[in-house]
Amino acid sequence: VPYGDCLCGRVAESGELLMSESCFTDTRHERRYGGMQAHGHYIVPLKTKGDALLGVMFLYTNTHPSWYQHSQEVLLSIGGLVADAIKHSLVKEELARYRNQLEELVAERTGDLNQANILLRKEVEERASAEHQLKIIREQLRNLSNHLQNIREEEKTRIAREVHDELGQSLTALKMDLVCLKQELPGLQPDLQERIQTMSGLIDSTITSVQRISSELRPQILDVMGLCEAISWQAREYQKRTTLRFDLNCEQVSINKELTTELFRIFQEALTNVVRHSRADRVCVSLHQNAEQITLEIGDNGQGMPPEKINAPQSLGLIGIRERVLFFGGEVEFQGEPGKGTRVIVKTPLKP
Ligand SMILES: Nc1ncnc2c1ncn2[C@@H]1O[C@H](COP(=O)(O)OP(=O)(O)O)[C@@H](O)[C@H]1O
Ligand SMILES: [Mg+2]
Repeated sequence: VPYGDCLCGRVAESGELLMSESCFTDTRHERRYGGMQAHGHYIVPLKTKGDALLGVMFLYTNTHPSWYQHSQEVLLSIGGLVADAIKHSLVKEELARYRNQLEELVAERTGDLNQANILLRKEVEERASAEHQLKIIREQLRNLSNHLQNIREEEKTRIAREVHDELGQSLTALKMDLVCLKQELPGLQPDLQERIQTMSGLIDSTITSVQRISSELRPQILDVMGLCEAISWQAREYQKRTTLRFDLNCEQVSINKELTTELFRIFQEALTNVVRHSRADRVCVSLHQNAEQITLEIGDNGQGMPPEKINAPQSLGLIGIRERVLFFGGEVEFQGEPGKGTRVIVKTPLKP
């Protein structure tokens, strides 16, 4: 029924309660059908509390139905209840639709998230495995480097010994022969005597060179007297050749040969750096042992190691020190501040 048409259309348009006394006399009752009996109507607007018209309810009555004020109010309030019920169910339907949509959305998102999660987990696993591999490779490299270091050290020891023993003995024998020669030929011409004297001097200085070269390769004192003595010896050698002055504060330590060698080589590298880079005139070396660890510290009063050099990939000397210390499960600290000197502090545990 269109708005404004017949009784229902009128109520739909006006929103007002309507009573029709008789279908035959009421001209507003425009819709008719064959065999229609005489009847009246109440047409009730279905209005919610918010005054929205949701529809109309039409009731058949006998002709001339009663039209009291209270029955009108009852009809209107029934219309209101029905409208509210309809509204309620509409809202419920909408809510259900909304919820379904939301659930679908959540399911979709959850699916996406699960997918992303699986990918992420895979990535994390892959990264962890790569890191693990990297760790193994680093460890292998460190072991290899240590192995090579040991071989070099053994080689140096062998060469040092051979140079010292073989060359040294031959030179000493030569020198003794020369002395004999001089004694056995007393009437020798002065210029020949002088030549013998020069030869003897040359042999002496060669013996000194051989001893120096052999010590530089590997100081025997390291194997015989230990780290503390070797450090003192090395300091004395530097004091002879340079203007550097040393403050030594070293104590005897009881450690195995391998660690002794490593710490001595680290000390030598740090010392070379002092000479090459620091412009210092004083070096302070300390070596201490307690129940857990050995601490070796080399400090200078020079211009200070630039902080950016500490972890620079070009600082191969420092990397070498760090790797050696790490191999022994220890740690190293390089402290450098412009104008405030440099300190290299090495700590290695006694029990690995
Ligand atoms: N005692 C020091 N005083 C000042 N600078 C230093 C000292 N030791 C190291 N450095 C700086 O750190 C850098 C890296 O040292 P290193 O790795 O031993 O390499 P290298 O000695 O071959 O240059 C040096 O080039 C130098 O600039
Ligand atoms: Mg260096």
